[in-house]
Amino acid sequence: MEEVIRIDGGRPLRGEVMISGAKNATVALIPAAVLARGPVTITGVPNIADVESLARILELLNVKIYRQREDHIIMDPTDMKNVDLEDDAVKKLRASYYFMGALLGKYGYVRIKMSGGCYLGPRPIDLHIKGFEAMGATVEYDRGCYTIKSDHLHGAKIFLDIASVGATINIMLAAVLADGRTTIENAAKEPEIIDIATMLNKMGANIHGAGTNVITIDGVHEVWGCFHEIIPDRIEAGTFLIMAAACAEEMKIVNVIPKHIEGLTSKLMEMGADMDIGIDSILVRRSPKLLKAVDITTKPYPGFATDLQQPFTALLTQADGMAVVTDTIYKERFKHCLELQRMGANIEIGSGSAMIKGPTRLYGDKVTATDLRCGASLIVAGLIADGVTEIHDVYHIDRGYDRIDTKLKALGASMHREIVE
Ligand code: EPU
Repeated sequence: MEEVIRIDGGRPLRGEVMISGAKNATVALIPAAVLARGPVTITGVPNIADVESLARILELLNVKIYRQREDHIIMDPTDMKNVDLEDDAVKKLRASYYFMGALLGKYGYVRIKMSGGCYLGPRPIDLHIKGFEAMGATVEYDRGCYTIKSDHLHGAKIFLDIASVGATINIMLAAVLADGRTTIENAAKEPEIIDIATMLNKMGANIHGAGTNVITIDGVHEVWGCFHEIIPDRIEAGTFLIMAAACAEEMKIVNVIPKHIEGLTSKLMEMGADMDIGIDSILVRRSPKLLKAVDITTKPYPGFATDLQQPFTALLTQADGMAVVTDTIYKERFKHCLELQRMGANIEIGSGSAMIKGPTRLYGDKVTATDLRCGASLIVAGLIADGVTEIHDVYHIDRGYDRIDTKLKALGASMHREIVE
């Protein structure tokens, strides 16, 4: 028995959609909260399975969780215990590795089973480990389990060979309570990093430079609770923007920071999409002309986000001409192309890139969401396609999109979930 999503394609979307809080900020803000000596309240929490997995980890750590509203979590780590994290919940998402930095920083000891998450090709965490070691920690790895400890975690100058989002945040978390100054050079600049640093500073941390490629963290003795509102999810906003460009009469995307998705909006403009970009909203109208094909190359922020590459590929099947999509972050992030081919897309898959020739008619078929953004790509394709698209392994989609089917149904999509054998 399995739950699938069925989409009866070809219906134009119309209306307004509200974007939820950023998944990739939330999954770091929750582990960050364990550093506090009092309750941390975060609002704008998306209703996604990753949050449930993190809540389960908090329970294991004896952190009290209160939910006043669905998007509002209070986490109280006052009576927490630093237990070994080997539960299944830990393996469900990659971001559980943020407990490495947070628990190492707070207790000087953490033992945690290797993280899971989407398979996008190899996803090493060597830079996280190098950072912890530079700060005086020893790291042991045994049958999927990391044991990281330090009697005296101290500041260090750390140069990241790659501007990794995860390593930047994890080192920042470890450094908040460490002795002295930590400098992260070639730090990642994603908006989520600014959000984490903002919350940590509200808690009493001393972090400068988040959003630039040099972040300085001056260790403090303790941090307290705070109130924090999560930034809007730029990837969810981008996904709806792509859907709007693909098949909306008129769609208004609300609660978005347009600056965060300029990599996408500039490409949509080049394609000829009709958009009005406001302060915290974007209005998309059906373009009178066929969209033109454009090439994209994914890059760290503020470049074109790798997380939008997969849904964007589905849109390119409808654009006029040949487009080359290159992913420089994850060279193997092209499994969605095989699924799109089943639906009739004309795509040639290369090494680290794909060539899409459009426009092509897509036809509903049985397809599989091999990872989260592949799922988003298949929803875009399903909305465009003739007939019914049946998407399997929808748990990937539910890990990261807040009630995407409810939001799309409100926009006029014909979409429902069903249990199949
Ligand atoms: N990398 C290393 N060594 C490391 C860390 C990263 O070689 O120690 C490499 C990775 O293999 C990859 C590149 O560096 O080629 C960038 O990886 P990064 O560490 O920046 O990615 P991440 O922190 O694992 C986050 C998001 C991803 C998003 C990437 C890139 C979270 C929880 N995940 O992953 O989001 O694709 O940044 O922007 O924040 C998604 O939401 O679907 C998703 C996969």
